[in-house]
Amino acid sequence: MSIPRRIGVLTGGGDCPGLNAVLRAVTKDALFHGIEVCGIEDGFLGLIENRIRPLDYESVSGILTVGGTILGTSNKANPRAFPTSTDADGNPVFEDLSDRCMAHIEQHGLDALVCIGGDGTMTGAHPFTEAGVSVIGVPKTIDNDVFGTDLTFGHLTAVDTATEAIDRLHSTALSHHRAMVVELMGRNAGWIALSAGIASGSDVILLPEMPFSYAAIAEAVERRRQRGARATIVAVAEGARPAGGAQVVRDVDPLSPDPIRLGGIARQVAAEIEARTSVEARHVVLGHLQRGGTPCAEDRVLCTRFGHHATTLLREGRSNRMVALVGNQVTDVDIRTPAGRQRTIPPDEPLLDVARAVYTSFGVPG
Ligand code: F6P
Repeated sequence: MSIPRRIGVLTGGGDCPGLNAVLRAVTKDALFHGIEVCGIEDGFLGLIENRIRPLDYESVSGILTVGGTILGTSNKANPRAFPTSTDADGNPVFEDLSDRCMAHIEQHGLDALVCIGGDGTMTGAHPFTEAGVSVIGVPKTIDNDVFGTDLTFGHLTAVDTATEAIDRLHSTALSHHRAMVVELMGRNAGWIALSAGIASGSDVILLPEMPFSYAAIAEAVERRRQRGARATIVAVAEGARPAGGAQVVRDVDPLSPDPIRLGGIARQVAAEIEARTSVEARHVVLGHLQRGGTPCAEDRVLCTRFGHHATTLLREGRSNRMVALVGNQVTDVDIRTPAGRQRTIPPDEPLLDVARAVYTSFGVPG
């Protein structure tokens, strides 16, 4: 495999803090080593629509601290199944547009692609790896659910944001002797809720990986009240559900490769607390606030390490790898590793014991 002369870089899927930091690191590192860089706008959508422009040193200067992505992104542009029309019933008709993308890759003389995104973006890149284009993936998402890496960039910032928000909820909870239930993102993984829950001293943490019982939550709230606690904070992951019950679906987006949008469990938990205890409860959904803003220092460092590793792999003539953090080492795995899998919290995750040891309830009996 030869060293690329010109590479394309894109950001795909939902935005998260640190996308610009990775774009900056990849672009500067590549330019430093004499490799030209083109930015592909709005993820794979820009590849489909041929919106590709050169990036120079100035284009990526001053963006390390800026949230979002200067290139834009899309979570609805799978090159193999792109919605191009609707049928007689109004249902979307999907077409394989990989060949069109390949034509644009060739037109711009791109020898390699750096695809910054989550599992959907890694999977979306498959047609190009199969066609012989060198592809390097860089794993992002606030959810930290990409299989093959211990950490995605963006996650630590989201945990910081969620922790700060929960800290603020303590004021009202304590002043009004209430239970405050805060809903955090994460899809089917509870990493944000677990880490922010521990960091904020939440009394109850509800995770998708551990179906809960309303009776056990009510018992934990009542027990605290009887001990004289003035408030209870419940951190609930959007994907959490009662044992034997279903996740709460907020919306279904048929055009998205991942159509389910979760949301609404906090309202139900707060209502059940009020119904089952003598404690007043309120709920807050933190939502997209968790995805915005400047990356925290750890994320800025991680993004710069990830970007450097991506260009190093390309300079070594390697391809079809996803950059990963294993332990504290930046390394790489096969880019197909995350396909069809999610990195959820395993039952033996040490943080679970850490939380239990400080009397955190997971809303399960016993
Ligand atoms: O994957 C990141 C994420 O923010 C999830 O935590 C959340 O479930 C989802 O994206 C929300 O998607 P959207 O921005 O399309 O509403």
